[in-house]
Amino acid sequence: MIDTMKGLTRTGYCADFNEQQVGREVVVCGWAAKRRDLGSLLFIDLRDRSGIIQLAFDDATPHEMMKKAQSIRSEFVLAAKGILRLRQTVNKKLPTGHIELAVTDLRILARADTPPFEVADAASVREEMLFHYRYLDLRRPEMQYNLLMRHRIVKAAHDFYDRNGFIEIETPDLIKSTPEGARDYLVPSRLHKGKFYALPQSPQLYKQILMLSGFDRYMQIARCFRDEDLRADRQPEFTQIDLEMSFVDEDDIMNINEHFMRYVFREVLHQEIETPFARMKYDDAMERYGSDKPDVRFAMELKNISEAVKDCGFGVFENALKDGGSVRAITLEEGVDRLSRKALDRLVTFVKDYGAKGLAWVKLGDKISSSFSKFVSEERLYSISAAADAKPGDTVLIVADAKNSVTCTALGALRLHLAKEFNLIPEKQFAFLWITDFPVFEYSEEEGRYMAMHHPFTAPTDESLPKLESDPGNCYARAYDMVLNGTEVGGGSIRINDPEIQNRMFRALGLSEETVKQRFGFLVDAFHYGAPPHGGMAYGLDRLVMLMLHLPSIKEVIAFPKVQNASEPMSGSPDIVDKKQLRDLHLLNDAEKEMADK
Ligand code: AMO
Ligand code: AMP
Repeated sequence: MIDTMKGLTRTGYCADFNEQQVGREVVVCGWAAKRRDLGSLLFIDLRDRSGIIQLAFDDATPHEMMKKAQSIRSEFVLAAKGILRLRQTVNKKLPTGHIELAVTDLRILARADTPPFEVADAASVREEMLFHYRYLDLRRPEMQYNLLMRHRIVKAAHDFYDRNGFIEIETPDLIKSTPEGARDYLVPSRLHKGKFYALPQSPQLYKQILMLSGFDRYMQIARCFRDEDLRADRQPEFTQIDLEMSFVDEDDIMNINEHFMRYVFREVLHQEIETPFARMKYDDAMERYGSDKPDVRFAMELKNISEAVKDCGFGVFENALKDGGSVRAITLEEGVDRLSRKALDRLVTFVKDYGAKGLAWVKLGDKISSSFSKFVSEERLYSISAAADAKPGDTVLIVADAKNSVTCTALGALRLHLAKEFNLIPEKQFAFLWITDFPVFEYSEEEGRYMAMHHPFTAPTDESLPKLESDPGNCYARAYDMVLNGTEVGGGSIRINDPEIQNRMFRALGLSEETVKQRFGFLVDAFHYGAPPHGGMAYGLDRLVMLMLHLPSIKEVIAFPKVQNASEPMSGSPDIVDKKQLRDLHLLNDAEKEMADK
């Protein structure tokens, strides 16, 4: 038998109460987080979404109620009426640690089996287990807080864009494949044998069409689907704050979005952030940080030391320069003490994962030493160190390669790796940055052709227009990414609104007229009926929430995320389905069909 709420009405959440309300009669509801039985005294920590309050039972408690309280185990669902009073011993760790509820009516609303782990210990539980019992994990105060903050951020987005004239419009989830660059999730059609819907990678084409339809300012909290490998900041199913505007240029879009950031940080975190954000061109970001999403909370910039190593006698460096590449370095402060010989060896392995062929070093210890000292003079080692801005005690780490992109990317990754390892990143800081002037095209070795770096609807800069066909490697786009603490938190662009240029773009991408017609014919057609100049951007909402709360993974801010192998362990998706369903979707061959019909 379990009790009911009959005759009881909750008067507040557990953590709503404090010393000021002592003497008041209240009713609280929640889960038993902890029970301490001291014989004549018994305490239960009652947990709800607001926090914890202590329920107290003592000599004054009727015998029957005491017995009931003694039967309570972890995660039983309770309601308790009682009088708030001051505690004998204060618990400084709890916001309600000064008070307790002297219970006069106790209800057990549900019993619970022994949970597979204590909710309070969930953070140390194996991931598979945690996500299998996600409902228990979600009872943790941290998770309750994260999802509450996520709600507030979404609310702030709705409010902000609404006040600025944006209309929220829903776009479909069963669509024709969008060209965002990742793999699509496909949904087989029952009515159109052999045809598939795709789940949207983003609402890109629809929001552009909405601009052509005259809506002028659109926003949507949009669910996006990309069949990619998971990472800390990447889920196959994620959410964007998506927006698009007509009759604007890049500055208008960047400006309004800086205002949004100010608004959301103020509303949700009560924190002021500085605007306008710094802007950095893509080429400069790669050159200085080896990344298109630099973490500028710390320095340790890449230095081009090609001049300083010219004709130095070390073949590795000379060959890289001869082949049109460069030699670059980063300097780890106090590297001499921080990096043992073994640690340096590990760094060599680390950069090799990023395509570098090796990692050379110079240590400015009591005596200068280097991995390539047998090839170059000591004097030269000093001038190389000077070029890398190193001072006594530092270690200079050097990569040489015929490809600048390899040199920069490897050192950029190493820079982050070292900063994390030696705690060089001021964690509670928010460092915003716009990255602008992305290349229009990116050469794909795999495909043997140029691909769109953003998407094929991104407008090239005016200067790049004449070069689209003749010099694609040197064309820049009117695209921008918002970077926060080294994560791409959002991105967008001004779009092409001239059908002529759009056609040239498709041609430059090597797309045949037929492919274009088949894949985005509807958009190309629409552009012939009056397309206003327009542009927009989309934030990764999950990433924004993660960064605002200083969390390590977006799984912490998604109620039911996928785990590493893209499954959802609680419900067990993906899963096999009925033969009958497969048959209806035309996914069985004849033999299988026969079996299914039997
Ligand atoms: P983009 O592909 O850059 O642009 O996506 C916009 C933002 O979405 C976030 N994001 C992700 N977050 C979690 N998991 C993922 N798998 C994932 N992929 C992307 C990032 C990213 O900055 N339609 C364009 C936007 C536009 O041009 O307006 C688009 O989708 O934070
Ligand atoms: P070696 O003479 O091959 O032992 O190389 C001397 C040093 O140069 C070692 O520390 C190597 O790791 C380093 N080295 C090799 N290739 C490169 C490269 N492409 N860039 C930077 N250092 C390299």
